[in-house]
Amino acid sequence: MAENETNGGGQESGTAYGRFHRRVLEGRAALFAVATTVAISIGGIVEIVPMFTASLGPEVRADVTPYTPLEVAGRDIYTREGCYLCHSQMVRPMRAEILRYGEWSRAWEYRYDRPFQLGSRRLGPDLHRVGGKYPDAWHYQHMQDPRSTSPGSVMPAYSWLLDWMVEPADITSSVRALAALGTPYESTEEDWVRGQMQSQGQTIVENLAQAGIETTWDREIIAMIAYLQRLGRDGNAVFRAEGSQ
Ligand code: HEC
Repeated sequence: MAENETNGGGQESGTAYGRFHRRVLEGRAALFAVATTVAISIGGIVEIVPMFTASLGPEVRADVTPYTPLEVAGRDIYTREGCYLCHSQMVRPMRAEILRYGEWSRAWEYRYDRPFQLGSRRLGPDLHRVGGKYPDAWHYQHMQDPRSTSPGSVMPAYSWLLDWMVEPADITSSVRALAALGTPYESTEEDWVRGQMQSQGQTIVENLAQAGIETTWDREIIAMIAYLQRLGRDGNAVFRAEGSQ
């Protein structure tokens, strides 16, 4: 035994199996290469074959609607400001999460999310079910000064959203990019995009006016509110109809 331990082949090289491995497998490089390739391929096949046989991708549901141009604008701002660095958009299927946020997130809810805003960190709460949780005016105040609505919040203020304007020409480019990737939009003309943004924005402006806030439809805050209020909306409607919540 002691002899075997010093010959660099380990203890097994002295056994019958060790000698077989040395001579028949390792001793024949070509055969060994083939055997290794076969062994690795089995792992590959097990992973790859189901992708071609199972139906591809998540379930497609008609309940999921594309983001409106104003929501696209809000989403662009969400990405620009890096909100995903502190907020996830995925409720995991775990008891504590469901109690806190609501239904866990389904794959089909993300159909029009390009790119995904799943996030990987939660300095703040998950936002996938935030749509409809607060009135529009709450979001307005929260963006202006998070501490005014949520005492002790560590979220930074985004007060410039209250002043900066959205440019329908830019949003038209975003809508066109999404349409090119297959999102069904009625039109990708700038006039249509502007009209959609204005009419949806106007309802938010009116909601805010009731809370004594004066602003115009083409401010970034309006687009941000439109986006936040729609998060999880399609999924929530489906779950309510199915009576799961
Ligand atoms: C530094 C981390 C951080 C960043 C960046 C951040 N947030 Fe937050 N957010 C928080 C924290 C913490 C809370 C919980 C306290 C509060 O309500 O302010 C929160 C709460 C929220 C809420 C309320 C969620 C709920 O269910 O009560 C919304 C909506 C929100 N953030 C939106 C945003 C948006 C939009 C952005 C980007 C413009 C953003 N946040 C950027 C940390 C962050």
